[in-house]
Amino acid sequence: MRDWILFDSELFENHLATSWLGRSFYFFEELPSTNSYAKQLNGEGTQHGALVLTDDQTGGRGQYDRVWKAESGKNLTFSLVFEPQKAERFTLLTLACALAVSETVYSCADAEARLKWPNDVLCKGKKLCGILTETQFSGNKLERVVIGIGLNVNQNRFEGELSDKATSLKKECGKEFVREKLLADILQRIEYHYRLWNQFNADLVKQINKALIGFGEWTRLKVNDEQLDGEFKFLGVNESGSLIALNKDFDIRTFSHEQVRVQAT
Ligand code: BTN
Repeated sequence: MRDWILFDSELFENHLATSWLGRSFYFFEELPSTNSYAKQLNGEGTQHGALVLTDDQTGGRGQYDRVWKAESGKNLTFSLVFEPQKAERFTLLTLACALAVSETVYSCADAEARLKWPNDVLCKGKKLCGILTETQFSGNKLERVVIGIGLNVNQNRFEGELSDKATSLKKECGKEFVREKLLADILQRIEYHYRLWNQFNADLVKQINKALIGFGEWTRLKVNDEQLDGEFKFLGVNESGSLIALNKDFDIRTFSHEQVRVQAT
């Protein structure tokens, strides 16, 4: 027996004000992983803009083969399907989605959420939202990009090592949030940022840099699993979402998210 209140698809659709994002909506009471489902989604014509959401994700996946756990019926676990023309700038698209989440958090919950390159949203140093971006190719041709978002909303407690690393909107603001309204808001902002991304709009990069944690700070970097000598000054991201850093000899270096892990100093 389910002991939570199921996500209300009708309420969500009533709030949704997008023109194409989330208009094709696949909802499941239970699913192993919304990203896995979205990658296999078949059907006539395009899946661009499709939304896959579950209230009970039993095999949620995170970055670096980690597991993503979210209490059933309390959070938002969903994936979005995009079918862009070109297979490029996915890190920037991921950050554009993270920016949309942080803006929604600010406007709906009045809490400050910032972006941790390349794919997290943090609130006072704790993880509020994780994003997993995956691509699907047919030969050389990009079929789709799936962006999976896990946002901690009404969860009260986090177990084990997550207890001091993760947070939720409820923990930050002391009240419950209407998940359906929150999701509709996030999608509206993602639709807007997707347009900017698609138009190579330089303002999007600026907004992302403004919201990034660590801008102008010195940090240690691990590249391809090897610790680089010295510290690097974090200068933000470029137009493809890669990280730009300056070393102590004033060389500017650019790193992709596949290469690098930023470490705490
Ligand atoms: C991370 O922080 O490591 C990324 C976590 C991404 C989790 C989301 S929840 C919805 C979607 N489905 C998945 O299996 N993973 C992503």
